[in-house]
Amino acid sequence: MGFNLTNGGLIRRENFIDGEWTPAKDDARFAVSNPATGDIIENVADSGAGDARAAVDAAARAFPSWRNTLPKERAAILRKWHTLILEHSDLLGELISLEQGKPLAEGRGEVAYAASYVAWFADEATRIYGDIIPQQQRGKRMSAVKEPLGVVAAITPWNFPAAMIARKIAPALAAGCTVVAKPAEDTPLTALALALLAHEAGTPKGVLNVISASRDRAVPAVAEWLQDSRVRKITFTGSTPVGKYLARESAGTLKKLSLELGGNAPFIVFDDADLDAAVTGLLAAKFRNGGQTCVCPNRVYVQTGVYERFSKLLSQRVAELKVGPATDPSSQIGPMINFRAIDKIARHVDDAVAHGAKVLTGGKTLPELGPHYFSPTVLADASADMVLCCEETFGPVVPLFPFVDEAEAVRAANDTPFGLAAYFYSDDARRIDRVARLLEAGIVGINEGALASEAAPFGGVKESGYGREGSKYGLDDYLSIKYICQGGLD
Ligand code: SIN
Repeated sequence: MGFNLTNGGLIRRENFIDGEWTPAKDDARFAVSNPATGDIIENVADSGAGDARAAVDAAARAFPSWRNTLPKERAAILRKWHTLILEHSDLLGELISLEQGKPLAEGRGEVAYAASYVAWFADEATRIYGDIIPQQQRGKRMSAVKEPLGVVAAITPWNFPAAMIARKIAPALAAGCTVVAKPAEDTPLTALALALLAHEAGTPKGVLNVISASRDRAVPAVAEWLQDSRVRKITFTGSTPVGKYLARESAGTLKKLSLELGGNAPFIVFDDADLDAAVTGLLAAKFRNGGQTCVCPNRVYVQTGVYERFSKLLSQRVAELKVGPATDPSSQIGPMINFRAIDKIARHVDDAVAHGAKVLTGGKTLPELGPHYFSPTVLADASADMVLCCEETFGPVVPLFPFVDEAEAVRAANDTPFGLAAYFYSDDARRIDRVARLLEAGIVGINEGALASEAAPFGGVKESGYGREGSKYGLDDYLSIKYICQGGLD
């Protein structure tokens, strides 16, 4: 089976600025390639600082009228966008799989996930309430109203080319903000296709602007946004070092920031857990997108009473996972995104083995399949001195760390600067309550490996960042509160 996307009319190669498809000012282009084969899919606009500025010019011009639309008018456009995304689900799913590498079922699943945020924030647009503050003095009325921040810059990663941009653009538009967006250089095509559908849904010109840029040119392009005082907010999903850079460099204009950064999620299996459920939950959480999500368990702590049995059950299931390209419907694990990813995974496995870990299954690249494949791997006897204990591997590798008691597991789980997701399996009600409170993470999964939902607040603590996406809290990051005090009343 092959993909035939060019006929679907969703492929765009130019920037989308002010309602027009526009080449980079100097006509520069860069290649987007298929991680399964390394073949070039398209050459897209390689934007520089001038293109980034043009996008802000358009968004700033569009803001005064967009903020004055009725919430139900914005909701109607978002609903139409949601419908169009779902109508193009097959093509978008293929496009995601083509440029990002995830198996087709996951590509289509991601389209539904992205669309769910658009539908959610269409509804939330009509629920932006303020407060009348109980009267404090005669003749005075005090109220608090919520207002859109202004131009929002959204910078998104490659691992969910549709969902991450949808869950930033949808709340921004719902709140009445206008947007300039830059998707990751590995996966700009899905973002450009979504911009096309947003335009068809009736988003007025300048309200949503999307530019693509290669790794090198993205730096001056984004720097333009960081320095421009018209950009009032940055929303970013990606690595912690880049998040810190954005916070530092935008400090000059004190922008509001939402940063969804790296994780190093622990997954704890207690002696009293249902082991089959724990294996199933771990497979769902760890091997989603081949291990390339910020919430994938990175360190698996297993209590010594069940360690041998759990290791065996898990390795059997992991060894059965089918690795292959998205074009093969039976593939469960696709290629990693690029050579840098493969190098990092191999480095983590080699370092673990050098420090005494045992490979129970996998542990190697699969060059016979293509340039970016790594076999699903289980490593026994992992320890805190291994690189994979403190760095996010972002690949299909499960290191198993034995532990003796609950206090030791919680201490080890929290012994990281990161705090995005944490998981544990236990059937003891008192332990469940205790451990959920003790884990330092923005998201906790108890006896569950699949946590993603548009209705839930997604975000971290510590160096995993701040801000929440999705849920009833997701709009707050795009709004400011204005206190209004009116005097002279009878
Ligand atoms: C991420 O990897 O950053 C997002 C994962 C999710 O939405 O579940």
